[in-house]
Amino acid sequence: MAGSSVRWGIVGPGRIAENVMGDFAYVPDAEVVAVASRSADRAQAFAHKHGIGRAYGSYRELIADPDVDVLYIATPHPQHLAIGVAAARAGKSLLVEKAFTATLAGAQTLVEEVRANRVFAMEAMWTRFQPAVVKARELLADGAIGEVRSAQVDLGVVRDFDPADRVFAYELGGGAMLDLGVYLVSFAQMVLGTPTSVSVRGSLEPSGVDAAASLLLGFPEGRTATLMCSLHSPMPGHARVFGSTGWIDVLPRFHHPRSIVLHRQGAEPEQFDRSPIGEGYAHELIEVTESVAAGRTESAIMPLDDTLAVQRVLDEALGLLGIRFTEDTTALGPPAAE
Ligand SMILES: NC(=O)c1ccc[n+]([C@@H]2O[C@H](COP(=O)([O-])OP(=O)(O)OC[C@H]3O[C@@H](n4cnc5c(N)ncnc54)[C@H](OP(=O)(O)O)[C@@H]3O)[C@@H](O)[C@H]2O)c1
Repeated sequence: MAGSSVRWGIVGPGRIAENVMGDFAYVPDAEVVAVASRSADRAQAFAHKHGIGRAYGSYRELIADPDVDVLYIATPHPQHLAIGVAAARAGKSLLVEKAFTATLAGAQTLVEEVRANRVFAMEAMWTRFQPAVVKARELLADGAIGEVRSAQVDLGVVRDFDPADRVFAYELGGGAMLDLGVYLVSFAQMVLGTPTSVSVRGSLEPSGVDAAASLLLGFPEGRTATLMCSLHSPMPGHARVFGSTGWIDVLPRFHHPRSIVLHRQGAEPEQFDRSPIGEGYAHELIEVTESVAAGRTESAIMPLDDTLAVQRVLDEALGLLGIRFTEDTTALGPPAAE
């Protein structure tokens, strides 16, 4: 890293990359210096729109750029692994969109690579950095609802089936589980720890990806989480954490909330309002920027072991629904001609 700014490169200028860009304005000491697309034209257009100095027509060129410290990988899930491995080997730090990979084996490989190369890496689970979620965790740690016993979380959207959209494409790791379910499982893992059992019921799209899924996770001492996600039902996105002396509501939508309500047994409910900065992505960008500047290799708030625990649940649930995704080993594109 040169100078005082952490230099970011964007990989895959699609929908989420577009949404996240504006939040860099709220991140001290971060600069987006490059973008890479599979198409030089798309890279140029994105660079022009956002005032980015370098536009690459392949991911390999960005990975080879010595003036970039950290990559934000914003491609579909099955492409994260090959890009992440190549980038880690080139010494780049990584912010990897959720779901971290399309498979558990892929997540394990990527974690091994980033650890072997001593680069920072984090799943872009922005929920954990939302100020309202931070407040909820403080309350839980202070014993505000006693011992945490269970959680109930839902997240649904209404989308027409469209085989051209990555959300419905089998080869792009589509379906509710990896797009929405990852938030549910990560939330449950955050408040209850690592599950010991996974049950699931669900339905499939014509393409074979999951359209909707309900999960029951078991934890030590009989604790449980009940989770529902759907691509065809407007579920509010409500999270509830139940304890031995009360409960906490994380008001919709729980994956980027503004308010939580503490219900202590026998007391009036207490609401805590905590708005995020920008669109809510700034917090995770700050975490990565500060971590990279400080030479850390993991986030204490979103550690890689938590990502692996979540990915294990997603993998098992998908398997129970008969879905077996594969990673895209060709995601970097063809090697440059000699
Ligand atoms: N944190 C959040 O709130 C949030 C929200 C939505 C999505 N996400 C995550 O972000 C990732 C991308 O989602 P998105 O909705 O932004 O997807 P998207 O709009 O389809 O964009 C993904 C981009 O990846 C690139 N790409 C590389 N290989 C590809 C392939 N084989 N097929 C299609 N595109 C490919 C494409 O850019 P080029 O071809 O130009 O390189 C494309 O524009 C997913 O992992 C998703 O779960 C996170």
